Amino acid sequence: MLPLSSPSSPYVCKFVFMFMLVVNAASTECTTLKPDFYSESCPQLETIVRTVVSKAVQKEARMAASLMRLEFHDCFVQGCDGSVLLDNTANFTGEKDAIGNLNSLRGFDVIDEIKEWLERECPQTVSCADILALVARDSVVEVGGPSWTVEYGRRDGVTANITLANEELPSALNSGPQLQSNFESKGFNLQQMVALSGAHTIGYARCLPIAPSLYGKVTDDNSINRGYLLFLEKTCPNGAAPALVPLDNDTPAKFDKDYYTNLLLGNGALHSDRVMVDSAGGTVKDYVVSYAEDTESFFLDFAQAMVQMGRIQTLTGSQGQIRTNCHFVNPPPCSSSSSSSSSTKSTLKTTSNLGLHKLQHQNP
Ligand code: HEM
Repeated sequence: MLPLSSPSSPYVCKFVFMFMLVVNAASTECTTLKPDFYSESCPQLETIVRTVVSKAVQKEARMAASLMRLEFHDCFVQGCDGSVLLDNTANFTGEKDAIGNLNSLRGFDVIDEIKEWLERECPQTVSCADILALVARDSVVEVGGPSWTVEYGRRDGVTANITLANEELPSALNSGPQLQSNFESKGFNLQQMVALSGAHTIGYARCLPIAPSLYGKVTDDNSINRGYLLFLEKTCPNGAAPALVPLDNDTPAKFDKDYYTNLLLGNGALHSDRVMVDSAGGTVKDYVVSYAEDTESFFLDFAQAMVQMGRIQTLTGSQGQIRTNCHFVNPPPCSSSSSSSSSTKSTLKTTSNLGLHKLQHQNP
Protein backbone atom coordinates (compact mmCIF):
# COMPACT_ATOMS: atom_id res chain seq x y z
CA MET A 1 0.00 0.00 0.00
CA LEU A 2 1.27 3.47 -0.85
CA PRO A 3 1.96 5.76 2.09
CA LEU A 4 -0.60 8.37 1.11
CA SER A 5 0.42 11.31 3.21
CA SER A 6 -2.96 13.00 3.11
CA PRO A 7 -5.54 10.30 3.53
CA SER A 8 -8.63 12.49 3.54
CA SER A 9 -10.75 11.88 0.48
CA PRO A 10 -10.83 15.39 -1.10
CA TYR A 11 -7.09 15.08 -1.68
CA VAL A 12 -7.22 11.84 -3.54
CA CYS A 13 -7.64 12.12 -7.28
CA LYS A 14 -6.64 9.75 -9.98
CA PHE A 15 -3.47 11.73 -10.67
CA VAL A 16 -2.36 11.81 -7.07
CA PHE A 17 -2.10 8.05 -6.78
CA MET A 18 0.24 7.87 -9.72
CA PHE A 19 2.32 10.87 -8.61
CA MET A 20 2.78 9.46 -5.16
CA LEU A 21 4.11 6.26 -6.65
CA VAL A 22 6.74 7.91 -8.80
CA VAL A 23 7.72 10.61 -6.34
CA ASN A 24 8.28 7.99 -3.65
CA ALA A 25 10.39 5.94 -6.01
CA ALA A 26 12.50 8.97 -6.82
CA SER A 27 13.17 9.72 -3.19
CA THR A 28 15.58 6.80 -2.79
CA GLU A 29 18.43 9.30 -3.32
CA CYS A 30 20.66 9.78 -0.32
CA THR A 31 18.87 11.84 2.32
CA THR A 32 18.59 11.55 6.06
CA LEU A 33 15.09 13.02 6.01
CA LYS A 34 12.27 10.52 6.52
CA PRO A 35 8.51 10.57 5.96
CA ASP A 36 7.90 8.80 9.29
CA PHE A 37 10.24 10.99 11.36
CA TYR A 38 7.40 12.22 13.61
CA SER A 39 5.27 9.08 13.55
CA GLU A 40 5.91 8.46 17.25
CA SER A 41 6.86 11.89 18.53
CA CYS A 42 4.04 13.86 16.88
CA PRO A 43 1.54 11.67 15.04
CA GLN A 44 -0.96 14.58 14.96
CA LEU A 45 1.38 16.71 12.82
CA GLU A 46 -0.21 16.19 9.42
CA THR A 47 -3.77 16.53 10.71
CA ILE A 48 -2.97 19.78 12.52
CA VAL A 49 -1.24 21.33 9.52
CA ARG A 50 -3.92 20.25 7.08
CA THR A 51 -6.65 21.68 9.32
CA VAL A 52 -5.00 25.09 9.67
CA VAL A 53 -3.96 25.36 6.00
CA SER A 54 -7.40 24.34 4.80
CA LYS A 55 -9.09 26.93 7.03
CA ALA A 56 -6.68 29.67 5.90
CA VAL A 57 -7.14 28.91 2.20
CA GLN A 58 -10.91 28.74 2.53
CA LYS A 59 -10.78 32.18 4.13
CA GLU A 60 -8.55 33.55 1.36
CA ALA A 61 -7.67 31.47 -1.69
CA ARG A 62 -4.47 33.42 -2.35
CA MET A 63 -3.07 32.18 0.95
CA ALA A 64 -2.24 28.85 -0.74
CA ALA A 65 0.17 30.70 -3.04
CA SER A 66 1.66 32.80 -0.27
CA LEU A 67 2.23 29.78 1.97
CA MET A 68 3.85 27.56 -0.64
CA ARG A 69 6.17 30.39 -1.70
CA LEU A 70 7.59 30.50 1.84
CA GLU A 71 9.18 27.08 1.29
CA PHE A 72 10.90 28.27 -1.91
CA HIS A 73 12.22 31.41 -0.26
CA ASP A 74 13.35 29.43 2.78
CA CYS A 75 15.17 26.67 0.91
CA PHE A 76 16.95 28.89 -1.64
CA VAL A 77 18.64 30.93 1.10
CA GLN A 78 21.09 28.93 3.26
CA GLY A 79 18.93 25.83 2.83
CA CYS A 80 15.63 24.66 4.28
CA ASP A 81 16.29 25.80 7.84
CA GLY A 82 13.28 28.00 8.60
CA SER A 83 15.54 31.07 8.46
CA VAL A 84 12.99 32.97 6.36
CA LEU A 85 10.75 33.06 9.43
CA LEU A 86 13.28 34.71 11.74
CA ASP A 87 12.66 38.30 12.80
CA ASN A 88 15.47 40.84 12.93
CA THR A 89 17.58 40.86 16.07
CA ALA A 90 20.46 42.93 17.40
CA ASN A 91 22.78 40.33 15.84
CA PHE A 92 21.35 40.09 12.34
CA THR A 93 18.93 41.59 9.86
CA GLY A 94 16.74 38.75 8.72
CA GLU A 95 15.64 37.58 5.29
CA LYS A 96 12.19 39.14 5.67
CA ASP A 97 13.72 42.52 4.76
CA ALA A 98 15.43 41.24 1.59
CA ILE A 99 14.40 42.74 -1.76
CA GLY A 100 12.38 39.71 -2.86
CA ASN A 101 10.65 39.35 0.52
CA LEU A 102 9.92 42.79 1.92
CA ASN A 103 6.22 43.69 1.75
CA SER A 104 5.81 40.57 -0.33
CA LEU A 105 6.02 37.40 1.74
CA ARG A 106 2.77 36.55 3.48
CA GLY A 107 1.30 33.85 5.67
CA PHE A 108 3.50 34.19 8.75
CA ASP A 109 0.41 34.29 10.99
CA VAL A 110 -0.73 30.95 9.57
CA ILE A 111 2.66 29.40 10.37
CA ASP A 112 2.38 30.88 13.89
CA GLU A 113 -1.03 29.30 14.39
CA ILE A 114 0.34 25.91 13.34
CA LYS A 115 3.42 26.23 15.51
CA GLU A 116 1.41 27.25 18.57
CA TRP A 117 -0.89 24.27 18.14
CA LEU A 118 2.05 21.91 17.65
CA GLU A 119 3.83 23.27 20.71
CA ARG A 120 0.73 22.45 22.74
CA GLU A 121 0.44 18.92 21.32
CA CYS A 122 4.10 17.94 20.89
CA PRO A 123 6.32 20.54 22.62
CA GLN A 124 9.77 21.25 21.18
CA THR A 125 9.46 18.51 18.61
CA VAL A 126 8.55 19.76 15.14
CA SER A 127 10.92 22.19 13.44
CA CYS A 128 9.74 25.34 11.69
CA ALA A 129 11.61 24.13 8.59
CA ASP A 130 9.54 20.92 8.53
CA ILE A 131 6.35 22.92 9.04
CA LEU A 132 7.17 24.98 5.93
CA ALA A 133 7.77 21.84 3.85
CA LEU A 134 4.45 20.31 4.88
CA VAL A 135 2.54 23.57 4.54
CA ALA A 136 3.80 23.90 0.95
CA ARG A 137 2.47 20.45 0.06
CA ASP A 138 -0.90 21.00 1.73
CA SER A 139 -1.34 24.44 0.17
CA VAL A 140 -0.79 23.04 -3.32
CA VAL A 141 -3.20 20.17 -2.67
CA GLU A 142 -5.78 22.57 -1.25
CA VAL A 143 -6.05 24.39 -4.60
CA GLY A 144 -6.13 21.30 -6.78
CA GLY A 145 -2.45 20.53 -7.32
CA PRO A 146 -0.52 17.29 -6.91
CA SER A 147 0.32 15.65 -3.62
CA TRP A 148 3.64 14.14 -2.57
CA THR A 149 5.13 12.43 0.44
CA VAL A 150 6.81 15.01 2.68
CA GLU A 151 10.12 14.05 4.25
CA TYR A 152 10.90 15.31 7.75
CA GLY A 153 13.79 15.66 10.15
CA ARG A 154 15.04 19.14 9.26
CA ARG A 155 16.21 21.26 12.15
CA ASP A 156 16.02 25.02 12.41
CA GLY A 157 18.86 27.40 11.74
CA VAL A 158 19.97 29.86 14.38
CA THR A 159 20.70 32.79 12.14
CA ALA A 160 19.47 34.56 9.02
CA ASN A 161 21.30 36.65 6.48
CA ILE A 162 19.72 39.44 4.45
CA THR A 163 22.75 39.73 2.16
CA LEU A 164 22.53 36.07 1.23
CA ALA A 165 18.80 36.41 0.59
CA ASN A 166 19.42 39.35 -1.75
CA GLU A 167 22.00 37.29 -3.62
CA GLU A 168 20.29 33.91 -3.76
CA LEU A 169 16.65 34.68 -4.51
CA PRO A 170 15.99 35.03 -8.23
CA SER A 171 14.66 38.38 -9.44
CA ALA A 172 11.77 39.03 -11.80
CA LEU A 173 14.20 41.06 -13.88
CA ASN A 174 16.73 38.23 -14.30
CA SER A 175 17.59 37.02 -17.79
CA GLY A 176 17.12 33.39 -18.86
CA PRO A 177 20.81 32.50 -18.27
CA GLN A 178 20.73 34.19 -14.85
CA LEU A 179 17.69 32.16 -13.82
CA GLN A 180 19.26 29.00 -15.16
CA SER A 181 22.45 29.54 -13.22
CA ASN A 182 20.50 30.38 -10.04
CA PHE A 183 18.51 27.15 -10.22
CA GLU A 184 21.58 25.13 -11.22
CA SER A 185 23.36 26.41 -8.12
CA LYS A 186 20.56 24.83 -6.08
CA GLY A 187 20.81 21.52 -7.93
CA PHE A 188 18.00 21.94 -10.45
CA ASN A 189 18.22 21.40 -14.20
CA LEU A 190 16.40 23.47 -16.80
CA GLN A 191 13.36 21.23 -16.92
CA GLN A 192 13.00 21.35 -13.15
CA MET A 193 13.32 25.12 -13.24
CA VAL A 194 10.41 25.29 -15.68
CA ALA A 195 8.38 22.82 -13.61
CA LEU A 196 8.96 24.77 -10.39
CA SER A 197 8.09 28.05 -12.08
CA GLY A 198 4.70 26.47 -12.69
CA ALA A 199 4.03 27.51 -9.08
CA HIS A 200 3.07 30.80 -10.72
CA THR A 201 -0.16 29.10 -11.73
CA ILE A 202 -1.42 30.51 -8.42
CA GLY A 203 -1.08 33.83 -6.66
CA TYR A 204 -0.34 37.43 -7.49
CA ALA A 205 2.45 39.92 -8.06
CA ARG A 206 2.57 43.55 -7.08
CA CYS A 207 3.34 46.16 -9.73
CA LEU A 208 6.73 46.74 -8.14
CA PRO A 209 8.48 43.75 -9.79
CA ILE A 210 6.42 44.13 -13.00
CA ALA A 211 6.73 47.83 -13.83
CA PRO A 212 10.48 47.95 -14.64
CA SER A 213 9.93 45.42 -17.41
CA LEU A 214 7.16 47.55 -18.93
CA TYR A 215 8.90 50.89 -19.15
CA GLY A 216 12.11 50.24 -20.97
CA LYS A 217 14.61 49.09 -18.36
CA VAL A 218 14.47 45.48 -19.51
CA THR A 219 14.14 45.06 -23.23
CA ASP A 220 14.15 41.38 -24.23
CA ASP A 221 10.40 40.84 -23.94
CA ASN A 222 9.79 39.58 -27.45
CA SER A 223 7.20 37.15 -26.25
CA ILE A 224 4.67 39.52 -24.71
CA ASN A 225 1.24 39.75 -26.26
CA ARG A 226 0.31 43.32 -27.25
CA GLY A 227 -3.13 43.22 -25.62
CA TYR A 228 -1.69 41.80 -22.43
CA LEU A 229 1.04 44.45 -22.41
CA LEU A 230 -1.65 47.14 -22.57
CA PHE A 231 -3.46 45.42 -19.68
CA LEU A 232 -0.26 45.43 -17.60
CA GLU A 233 0.47 49.06 -18.47
CA LYS A 234 -3.03 50.07 -17.47
CA THR A 235 -2.90 48.07 -14.23
CA CYS A 236 0.60 49.24 -13.35
CA PRO A 237 0.90 52.82 -14.64
CA ASN A 238 3.92 53.32 -12.42
CA GLY A 239 6.04 51.23 -10.09
CA ALA A 240 4.16 52.44 -7.04
CA ALA A 241 0.69 51.37 -8.15
CA PRO A 242 -0.87 49.29 -5.38
CA ALA A 243 -2.62 46.89 -7.77
CA LEU A 244 -2.07 43.15 -7.81
CA VAL A 245 -1.66 41.23 -11.05
CA PRO A 246 -2.59 37.52 -11.18
CA LEU A 247 0.39 35.41 -12.19
CA ASP A 248 -2.00 33.12 -14.07
CA ASN A 249 -4.42 35.42 -15.81
CA ASP A 250 -7.13 32.76 -16.10
CA THR A 251 -7.24 30.75 -12.87
CA PRO A 252 -5.06 32.34 -10.14
CA ALA A 253 -6.72 30.29 -7.40
CA LYS A 254 -6.39 26.92 -9.13
CA PHE A 255 -3.24 24.86 -9.43
CA ASP A 256 -3.35 23.81 -13.08
CA LYS A 257 -1.29 24.06 -16.26
CA ASP A 258 -2.79 27.39 -17.38
CA TYR A 259 0.40 29.21 -16.41
CA TYR A 260 2.14 27.51 -19.33
CA THR A 261 -0.77 28.03 -21.72
CA ASN A 262 -0.73 31.71 -20.84
CA LEU A 263 3.02 31.98 -21.36
CA LEU A 264 2.62 30.60 -24.88
CA LEU A 265 -0.11 33.17 -25.55
CA GLY A 266 2.25 35.93 -24.46
CA ASN A 267 0.42 36.52 -21.19
CA GLY A 268 3.28 36.16 -18.72
CA ALA A 269 3.07 38.68 -15.88
CA LEU A 270 6.73 38.72 -14.86
CA HIS A 271 9.69 39.29 -17.12
CA SER A 272 11.26 36.15 -15.58
CA ASP A 273 8.23 34.14 -16.74
CA ARG A 274 8.28 35.60 -20.22
CA VAL A 275 11.95 34.80 -20.86
CA MET A 276 11.02 31.13 -20.77
CA VAL A 277 9.18 31.49 -24.04
CA ASP A 278 11.29 34.24 -25.50
CA SER A 279 12.81 33.54 -28.90
CA ALA A 280 16.13 32.89 -27.16
CA GLY A 281 14.43 30.33 -24.90
CA GLY A 282 15.11 27.24 -27.08
CA THR A 283 14.95 24.12 -24.94
CA VAL A 284 13.21 25.97 -22.16
CA LYS A 285 10.34 26.80 -24.43
CA ASP A 286 10.03 23.09 -25.36
CA TYR A 287 9.44 22.27 -21.70
CA VAL A 288 6.81 25.01 -21.49
CA VAL A 289 5.06 23.54 -24.52
CA SER A 290 5.14 20.03 -23.09
CA TYR A 291 3.73 21.11 -19.72
CA ALA A 292 1.05 23.20 -21.47
CA GLU A 293 -0.04 19.99 -23.18
CA ASP A 294 0.18 17.58 -20.30
CA THR A 295 -1.07 18.20 -16.77
CA GLU A 296 0.15 14.81 -15.57
CA SER A 297 3.78 15.40 -16.44
CA PHE A 298 3.67 18.92 -14.97
CA PHE A 299 2.19 17.64 -11.72
CA LEU A 300 4.65 14.78 -11.52
CA ASP A 301 7.74 16.90 -12.24
CA PHE A 302 6.55 19.68 -9.94
CA ALA A 303 5.97 17.27 -7.06
CA GLN A 304 9.36 15.63 -7.55
CA ALA A 305 11.12 18.98 -7.71
CA MET A 306 9.41 20.11 -4.49
CA VAL A 307 10.68 16.99 -2.70
CA GLN A 308 14.15 17.81 -4.02
CA MET A 309 13.81 21.44 -2.96
CA GLY A 310 13.01 20.29 0.57
CA ARG A 311 16.41 18.58 0.74
CA ILE A 312 18.54 21.65 0.02
CA GLN A 313 21.26 22.11 2.65
CA THR A 314 19.19 20.75 5.51
CA LEU A 315 20.32 20.74 9.13
CA THR A 316 19.74 17.32 10.69
CA GLY A 317 20.75 15.24 13.70
CA SER A 318 22.32 17.47 16.32
CA GLN A 319 22.70 20.50 14.05
CA GLY A 320 20.61 23.62 14.62
CA GLN A 321 17.70 23.43 17.02
CA ILE A 322 13.93 23.02 17.22
CA ARG A 323 12.71 26.57 17.63
CA THR A 324 9.78 26.92 20.00
CA ASN A 325 8.75 30.15 18.27
CA CYS A 326 9.50 30.35 14.55
CA HIS A 327 10.21 34.09 14.80
CA PHE A 328 13.16 33.70 17.15
CA VAL A 329 16.10 31.52 18.00
CA ASN A 330 15.47 29.83 21.37
CA PRO A 331 16.65 31.90 24.30
CA PRO A 332 19.98 30.82 25.71
CA PRO A 333 19.64 28.37 28.60
CA CYS A 334 21.22 30.69 31.16
CA SER A 335 22.47 34.20 30.50
CA SER A 336 23.23 35.33 34.04
CA SER A 337 27.02 35.30 33.65
CA SER A 338 29.26 36.57 30.88
CA SER A 339 30.93 33.18 30.54
CA SER A 340 27.58 31.52 29.79
CA SER A 341 26.66 34.12 27.18
CA SER A 342 29.95 33.61 25.37
CA SER A 343 29.12 29.94 24.92
CA THR A 344 25.59 30.62 23.71
CA LYS A 345 26.33 30.35 20.01
CA SER A 346 27.87 26.90 20.15
CA THR A 347 25.33 25.66 22.69
CA LEU A 348 22.48 26.58 20.37
CA LYS A 349 23.88 24.33 17.72
CA THR A 350 23.65 21.14 19.77
CA THR A 351 20.80 18.90 20.82
CA SER A 352 21.95 19.17 24.40
CA ASN A 353 20.66 22.71 24.22
CA LEU A 354 17.22 21.35 23.62
CA GLY A 355 17.39 19.53 26.94
CA LEU A 356 18.59 22.65 28.70
CA HIS A 357 15.88 24.68 27.09
CA LYS A 358 13.27 22.21 28.33
CA LEU A 359 14.68 22.55 31.82
CA GLN A 360 14.46 26.29 31.59
CA HIS A 361 10.76 26.01 30.82
CA GLN A 362 10.17 23.65 33.69
CA ASN A 363 11.98 25.93 36.14
CA PRO A 364 11.06 29.50 35.23
C1 HEM B 1 12.02 31.45 -11.68
C2 HEM B 1 12.34 32.28 -10.72
C3 HEM B 1 11.31 33.04 -9.94
C4 HEM B 1 11.18 34.39 -9.86
C5 HEM B 1 12.08 35.41 -10.52
C6 HEM B 1 10.03 34.65 -9.04
C7 HEM B 1 9.58 35.92 -8.72
C8 HEM B 1 8.37 36.18 -8.13
C9 HEM B 1 7.81 37.50 -7.94
C10 HEM B 1 8.50 38.81 -8.33
C11 HEM B 1 6.59 37.37 -7.39
C12 HEM B 1 5.63 38.50 -6.99
C13 HEM B 1 6.05 39.01 -5.65
C14 HEM B 1 5.37 40.31 -5.24
O1 HEM B 1 4.95 41.08 -6.06
O2 HEM B 1 5.27 40.56 -4.04
C15 HEM B 1 6.36 35.96 -7.21
C16 HEM B 1 5.22 35.41 -6.67
C17 HEM B 1 5.07 34.08 -6.42
N1 HEM B 1 6.03 33.09 -6.58
FE1 HEM B 1 7.73 33.26 -7.65
N2 HEM B 1 9.48 33.48 -8.64
C18 HEM B 1 10.23 32.45 -9.16
C19 HEM B 1 10.03 31.12 -8.93
C20 HEM B 1 9.13 30.61 -8.06
C21 HEM B 1 9.11 29.27 -7.55
C22 HEM B 1 10.17 28.21 -7.89
C23 HEM B 1 8.05 29.15 -6.72
C24 HEM B 1 7.61 27.99 -5.90
C25 HEM B 1 7.97 26.74 -6.11
C26 HEM B 1 7.37 30.42 -6.74
C27 HEM B 1 6.19 30.70 -6.10
C28 HEM B 1 5.53 31.92 -6.17
C29 HEM B 1 4.15 32.11 -5.75
C30 HEM B 1 3.20 31.02 -5.30
C31 HEM B 1 3.88 33.47 -5.89
C32 HEM B 1 2.57 34.20 -5.53
C33 HEM B 1 2.62 34.57 -4.06
C34 HEM B 1 1.41 35.30 -3.53
O3 HEM B 1 0.42 35.51 -4.22
O4 HEM B 1 1.46 35.68 -2.34
N3 HEM B 1 8.07 31.29 -7.52
N4 HEM B 1 7.46 35.27 -7.65
